[in-house]
Amino acid sequence: MAGSSAEGRARRVALIGYGKIGRTVAQHVRELGCEVAFALDPVAEAEDGTTIVRTGSPELYEGIDLVVECATATALVEQIDDVLERTNLMPFSLTAFSDDDVLERAKRTAQEHGHAIYLPHGAILGLDGIWDARSILTEVSIVTTKSPASLGLAACSEPKTVFEGCTRDACAAFPRNVNVHAAVALAGIGFSRTHSMIVADPNVTTNTHVISVKGEGIEFTLNISSFTTGGVTGVYTPLSACGSLDRVLKDAGGLSFV
Ligand SMILES: NC(=O)c1ccc[n+]([C@@H]2O[C@H](COP(=O)([O-])OP(=O)(O)OC[C@H]3O[C@@H](n4cnc5c(N)ncnc54)[C@H](O)[C@@H]3O)[C@@H](O)[C@H]2O)c1
Repeated sequence: MAGSSAEGRARRVALIGYGKIGRTVAQHVRELGCEVAFALDPVAEAEDGTTIVRTGSPELYEGIDLVVECATATALVEQIDDVLERTNLMPFSLTAFSDDDVLERAKRTAQEHGHAIYLPHGAILGLDGIWDARSILTEVSIVTTKSPASLGLAACSEPKTVFEGCTRDACAAFPRNVNVHAAVALAGIGFSRTHSMIVADPNVTTNTHVISVKGEGIEFTLNISSFTTGGVTGVYTPLSACGSLDRVLKDAGGLSFV
């Protein structure tokens, strides 16, 4: 998908959610020469001229080339059918896909209508490598360490494990904090077989994810830390969102990593 459509008009991108990721994405979309058609958000105000729409409806997505969801898993589930029947989707609230019905319906709708679901790497790295190895993987685990405030928990004095179990249950328990677990599960061995652990540590100012992957003849460990700036999203994700948009919207030229 290039910056301009086949008819020569600027690509039209819509956003669901106009918070930290949404605002960075809107600016980047304009820098790429594409148009921000609107942002659907029940409460946000835009200082940059972006049209804010308060409630969703199917017709909103007519004539849109890409919808970037950066709101909540609930918002994604609410809008996903209307979006995928009409256009392509880049979702960030991946915990929504821990519900098999949502995932299977999304894949079916996208296929029936000829639309793509672009899964961004978001806060972590290496999803492409995990996806490429998925047929030989035997064990995948991920440990996330965040401050209690980032996890929406009361302050504690010592680090403590607040969740351990399968990724499907982690998504139900911490839907806003384990999108990276959902991404790893989607790329690898699924929500039931991927093992999740979440640690609340009062001494950290970073979001850290340690991902361990084992398979026939391979063993990878990825250790990823990003400073928090308040809220659920660290410093890295807005940058990575821009990179993902480049790969989807731009005729790259120069170096490109595939
Ligand atoms: N995939 C990843 O690696 C990754 C990394 C970081 C964040 N995230 C997820 O991305 C999403 C956005 O993160 P953020 O930091 O920009 O959040 P944010 O809180 O800064 O912004 C979210 C925005 O969504 C809006 N919103 C809430 N309900 C809505 C609805 N029903 N419809 C439309 N808009 C709605 C809110 O008003 C807010 O403006 C979150 O779900 C977050 O967990 C994913």
